[in-house]
Amino acid sequence: APPLKIGIAGLGTVGAGVVRMIARRKDEIAARIGRPVEVVAVSARDRNRNRDCDLSGVRWFTDAVELARDPDIDVFVELIGGPEGVAKAAVEAAITAGHDVVTANKALLAHHGVDLARAAEAAGVGIHFEAAVAGGIPVIKTLREALLGNELNRVSGILNGTCNYILTRMQEEGLSFDTCLDQAQQLGYAEADPTFDVDGFDTAHKLALLASLAFGVQPDPDAIHIEGIRSITLADIEAADELGYRIKLLGVAARTGGAVELRVHPTMVPKHWPIAQVSGVTNAVAIDGDAVALTLVGPGAGGDATASAVVADLCDIAAGRGGAPFGRRAETLRAAEKAAIQRH
Ligand code: HSE
Repeated sequence: APPLKIGIAGLGTVGAGVVRMIARRKDEIAARIGRPVEVVAVSARDRNRNRDCDLSGVRWFTDAVELARDPDIDVFVELIGGPEGVAKAAVEAAITAGHDVVTANKALLAHHGVDLARAAEAAGVGIHFEAAVAGGIPVIKTLREALLGNELNRVSGILNGTCNYILTRMQEEGLSFDTCLDQAQQLGYAEADPTFDVDGFDTAHKLALLASLAFGVQPDPDAIHIEGIRSITLADIEAADELGYRIKLLGVAARTGGAVELRVHPTMVPKHWPIAQVSGVTNAVAIDGDAVALTLVGPGAGGDATASAVVADLCDIAAGRGGAPFGRRAETLRAAEKAAIQRH
């Protein structure tokens, strides 16, 4: 079979990780799915930065939208980020050009996912976003496919690696919030604007996407009660510890009667609960179904972990495994019943 030709927009820690991973795994991937995957083009602003990945023979663009329109790619991988701007324009251009899209952009999908899904359905292409939620944890595949026999009641967990990293290091080493945030940024965990992480928006974006898959509702980040971790002090963490608790930033989506309640806030979790022991950049997603209840635990951010999810989506596309982005067609998503969404 001809290779699946990939164009990657954004060569930060995730993009470079994808290039390296495909180079490392290309023979095994071709053997498994019967079709090679190949990075043929990339876009990034600065061509001269050292990215520690081999881009010889790969075509360069400085404009992501131009790359998205390129007729010589099959799949457009969007790793630019941000809910509007270039990322949105490029994904729209890729759909119009008839390319499948892989994106790690939870902010874009939480705000515009339904419109993009409609456009993709009309164009006969797919939007894949395993990398947008919980980094390397295959939670989208789990909700879309593996648990389809279940009626789900609740999806919750630790969905932001940066916050969990900060809270863990404050707890374990008594370091200040600012020091821990600096380190999370240096390790490549934080968003370009870390406000998204520490103020809970990133968790809310991911929660909206999980709720759309679990409950068939339209993602609507504006309908979520959101409280981040910026105001948590070392004294709060010590006080919780003395009482037998850990403070965790949780996202919770739960069925309540006919509606779905979505909320993000710091939560006191008893120390002996498994979720209290999830430390560092690790994420955990607990899914409660009527037949199966399980918790997925794994790396929630970072170049290689997130690249692993991007590569999984690329393999699905190469193998012809698609389907509606939210597990159902966009018009069958229910509008969230805002009145029933708890605001505190
Ligand atoms: N900034 C995000 C996090 C990256 O810390 O979890 C993964 O989406």
